[in-house]
Amino acid sequence: MLSVFALLRYYATRPAARFLAHDMDSSSFSLLVRKLRETVGNRGDVEEIKSLLSDYKAVRSEYSKYITWNDSKYTRNLIDQGNGLFNLMTMCWGPGQTAPIHSHPGANCYVRMLEGKMEEQLYTKPIGPGARVELQRSRVLNTGDVIHLRDDISIHSMTNVSSQGAVTLHLYSPPYTASEIFNEDTGDVIRAPIMYTTKGAELQPQPEGITL
Ligand SMILES: [Fe+2]
Repeated sequence: MLSVFALLRYYATRPAARFLAHDMDSSSFSLLVRKLRETVGNRGDVEEIKSLLSDYKAVRSEYSKYITWNDSKYTRNLIDQGNGLFNLMTMCWGPGQTAPIHSHPGANCYVRMLEGKMEEQLYTKPIGPGARVELQRSRVLNTGDVIHLRDDISIHSMTNVSSQGAVTLHLYSPPYTASEIFNEDTGDVIRAPIMYTTKGAELQPQPEGITL
């Protein structure tokens, strides 16, 4: 039989322990996180996950601790690690802030617009030496919209084209730690680690160099 001390040590050291706030309240945001944990990588298909994200009635007070702003770059705020099956995060975009053309290596990318308005450019991912990205189309993402991408469908860039801040909710399944950034003009590709401004609402040290 496990001692009380062994149980305490287990809960204090297991990896998800820093992201357990959503088990402790009954807000609709916490319910969304719990449903995603039950669904992603289990029975969930793309449409089911999109529906869960779409059905969430965005209440800012429920996710406000995952909102941070930075004058020089959008912020990325990790909410939940989905028992290792996905990463869920907000991203907060000041006016004009942008993510360059990038891939989501091996992952499904879901984005739910929580607040504001973004513009997205969709490209084909180049395959083979010397290949360049090709613009497929642009679209405007308004509050409430949900999108899904995989690299074999499109890669993309996103920009807050409005004069107000924008907040987006992103789910990546399976999670990944580095991406590729594509230069449309030169054809150059660089590997960029994924940075987090906060994890579990705690500020993180910021790495040097180019990150996504
Ligand atoms: Fe992306």
